[in-house]
Amino acid sequence: MKMFVVFLILVYVSQHVSAVDMYDGDQFVLLHCEFSTFEMDTPTVIWTRSDLSPSTVHQHQPEGDELKNQNQLYSGRTSMKPDALDTGDLSLNLTGLTLSDSGTYTCSVRDGFGFQKTVTDVHLQIKERFPSWAKALLVLLVLLLVAVGLLVHFRYYFMSGYQVDVDSGVESVQLPCKTTVHLPVDAKVEWTNSKDWKIHVYQNGSDQPGEQHNPYKGRTEMKRNLLKTGDLSLTLKYPTEEERGACSCTVYSREGNVLMKKVVMLQVKVSQVEVDSGVESVQLPCKTTVHLPEDVRVEWRLSLYENLRVHVYENGSDRPEEQYEDYEGRTEMKRDLLNTGDLSLILKYPADRDRDTYTCSVYSREGNILIKKDVKLQVKGYQVDVDSGVESVQLPCKTTVHLPVDAKVEWTNSEDKKVHVYQNGSDQPGEQHNHYKGRTEMKRNLLKTGDLSLTLKYPTEEERGACSCTVYSREGNVLMKKVVMLQVKDCQVKVEDGVESVQLPFRTTGDLPEDAKVWWKDSKNRTVHIYQNGFDQLEEQIQVYRNRTEIKDDLLQTGDLSLTLKHPTVRDTGTYACVIISTNIWRMKTVLLKIKKTTQDKDESGDVRNRSSSTDPTPLMAEQSV
Ligand SMILES: *[C@@H]1O[C@H](CO)[C@@H](O)[C@H](O)[C@H]1NC(C)=O
Repeated sequence: MKMFVVFLILVYVSQHVSAVDMYDGDQFVLLHCEFSTFEMDTPTVIWTRSDLSPSTVHQHQPEGDELKNQNQLYSGRTSMKPDALDTGDLSLNLTGLTLSDSGTYTCSVRDGFGFQKTVTDVHLQIKERFPSWAKALLVLLVLLLVAVGLLVHFRYYFMSGYQVDVDSGVESVQLPCKTTVHLPVDAKVEWTNSKDWKIHVYQNGSDQPGEQHNPYKGRTEMKRNLLKTGDLSLTLKYPTEEERGACSCTVYSREGNVLMKKVVMLQVKVSQVEVDSGVESVQLPCKTTVHLPEDVRVEWRLSLYENLRVHVYENGSDRPEEQYEDYEGRTEMKRDLLNTGDLSLILKYPADRDRDTYTCSVYSREGNILIKKDVKLQVKGYQVDVDSGVESVQLPCKTTVHLPVDAKVEWTNSEDKKVHVYQNGSDQPGEQHNHYKGRTEMKRNLLKTGDLSLTLKYPTEEERGACSCTVYSREGNVLMKKVVMLQVKDCQVKVEDGVESVQLPFRTTGDLPEDAKVWWKDSKNRTVHIYQNGFDQLEEQIQVYRNRTEIKDDLLQTGDLSLTLKHPTVRDTGTYACVIISTNIWRMKTVLLKIKKTTQDKDESGDVRNRSSSTDPTPLMAEQSV
């Protein structure tokens, strides 16, 4: 009977559902649940959330709280009144509320017999104190306030960001800086560059050149009455490429507080000169309309190297003793340069290595920079392309320079070996590297015509690279130099595996000397075929080529030195070279032979296919031989 009553009450109470709204961050909430467990046998109160696992939020029994099965989310955050089972107030105190506590909390009771009933469901809804749109709005508002604050604080920065573009070499550039702020008479104005070096300082009513960084000395100017007018613009003379970047104009109060600051971006473009390697000379422009005093010093140097002076002019004459040795005898400046203002530098025989940025600087006697200009020099190489095996190639080298009769002309290869030497009116084969003997030729009267071009016969791939044509005076000074890139392309022969024979072509001039030795070698430098004194000399021929090579009978008369290789296989792929050697002849040609595997099954020549399969044991070939 007692059980029945309990059951009825349980049924009634289970109808009860309540809802509670709280906010994220609230300290605690009391989830109500009332049930008289007074008459129950060893009652247990369980608070659960069925959407969690484990679902237990809190459990309380006569011995006290039983939190063994409690979900970790609620660890340390739940409590019930110690006398709950006596009073029937089974409310749960949940503390430290967060959004994830939203859910339905079920309060149930269970008796010692295992009967369990739900007393109440509490829908707990934890709301965001501020909805996300409100938060977003708040963040925006804060950001806006910060931005406005920054703008007010740095208003001169933002309101006056400014870029000035000039070419390197312009006489001067004005960096604008104007203010409507009333400036006190004892204000200090400071222009600094991106490295914080002082460009110009104005204080106590006058410029302070003593505080100025050296390179800017004598090159800056500010307006009169600048504190009254508020025009703090700076005139900078001869801005250089190195000086580009952010320049700041700052006004300080007597106490050293910043009253205003403005930044101007200075952009200095460098002028560029492009020439082909091999031209006689190039002019690096530097002109001025400034009147130059008699005692100026003009200095051309490599822009990044203070000490590498390309040309120095001082007190009306050149100073070769100050010049970097690489440029000795190769530079020239205009006559009358002080009157014309044309300080351009003439650089002779510009070559690859002369690629650089050059600076033209003019200093007053006191050492102040009057002019500074950068010029970038681009030198392009000159290239001659030929196929390997051509009869000859001409490497051009012409000059309009007047060459003395005792000049020496030297052609050298990329390894500085002498290709051809001309001196005292004739070729000097004695000075020539062996490799080039009998293969070079220069024009007649070359010193008079200035055409120093070289004819090189039978150029080979090994000879490709930079060839230099240099003219020396009797004293050994370089009068001119020109570089030609020689590009020799491989001769290629491609055939498919299985052909009866392949020809490696080499045609040269006919009527070769009787004693000429014709020697075909493979890429491993092994003898493929030798012909000498009217006969094939096959003692040195290696086994692989036995009975597979043939050359023409009348090769010395016709100059057709081509080699026929029979039954070529993929293993024959490689570079072959043919050299003709005699007392006064040396010629060479290389041929790249490429043999492609074929998948053709049908072939009349069973021999060839069997050979193929025996020399190339790949599965593909094995299949073919079946
Ligand atoms: C709930 O628990 C917190 C923390 O222990 C306490 O401050 C708060 O007073 C309790 N609330 C009630 C209604 O007992």
